[in-house]
Amino acid sequence: MATSSLQQPPAKRLDGKVALITGGASGIGAATAKLFVQHGAKVTIADIQDSLGVSLVGELGAENATFLHCSVAVEADVQRAVDATVKKYGKLDVVFSNAGVMGNPISGISEVDYGVVKDVFDVNVFGAFFTAKHAARVMIPAKAGSIIFTASAATAVYGDVSHAYAASKNAVLGLSKNLGVELGQHGIRVNVVSPYTLSTPLALKTLGISEKEKGKADALFSGAGNLRGALLEEEDVAKATLYLASDDSKYVSGLNLIVDGGYSTTNVALTETYKKLFI
Ligand SMILES: NC(=O)c1ccc[n+]([C@@H]2O[C@H](COP(=O)([O-])OP(=O)(O)OC[C@H]3O[C@@H](n4cnc5c(N)ncnc54)[C@H](O)[C@@H]3O)[C@@H](O)[C@H]2O)c1
Repeated sequence: MATSSLQQPPAKRLDGKVALITGGASGIGAATAKLFVQHGAKVTIADIQDSLGVSLVGELGAENATFLHCSVAVEADVQRAVDATVKKYGKLDVVFSNAGVMGNPISGISEVDYGVVKDVFDVNVFGAFFTAKHAARVMIPAKAGSIIFTASAATAVYGDVSHAYAASKNAVLGLSKNLGVELGQHGIRVNVVSPYTLSTPLALKTLGISEKEKGKADALFSGAGNLRGALLEEEDVAKATLYLASDDSKYVSGLNLIVDGGYSTTNVALTETYKKLFI
């Protein structure tokens, strides 16, 4: 008797797939590498933090994961990471372009200079371009693939982050949409995952909060969030990415999947100011 997928949900949603994750040694990338391996994928972790990357591979098992030193800002590094993945695992189904930096938290336009913008764009924008270019190079002949970029809720709500960071993430969003049109012709899906702020090393460093005081940052982010009683964690972003990587999203392309508990849909300033002035 035939069994429906409702009766037998696929336990492993990436069985037999091969994925490359940039910025995979820490935070969202590391949580995604773990979840992808749990779901049956072979994963290459490409990052500049070698010791973290190597120890993550130790945790995941050398039969499931590989670490490669790779700065996404250097095209030759990205090219090598893609080629090494294909050489080792025979193909490349999923590329998660996730490496990112926040850069100098300068907020005023008058303080911005070439270096401030360049540092952020080198990783967030040029890195995304190089990653997409080399992913496409191997996915086009295969006529299949899923490319996912990490952008940010800063593609939907403005004023919370520096100009350079906001501009870089909106550039990534623009790239993803344009690329989805080109690569759709080759059967390749291109999507974005855009998280609200969460307490990874990147966010803690930007706020000047130590790892020991992570609880304070969690309280800040959940308190400022829209969804009461919930805290956004790396695993939540990883689960959204898993959806975009797996065949569950086989007809989804051009999506900016905003994982922000509705933060970007509201503006509490009027209500809060009303309460302050009148209540
Ligand atoms: N944490 C947040 O609040 C938040 C919110 C929205 C979007 N994001 C985005 O999520 C992504 C992941 O960041 P995270 O929060 O997990 O922080 P994280 O610092 O834990 O991870 C970022 C990873 O990127 C790596 N990286 C930095 N420069 C690199 C380079 N040149 N080449 C390769 N790897 C490089 C780092 O070594 C690190 O392992 C970033 O693109 C970030 O902009 C984070």
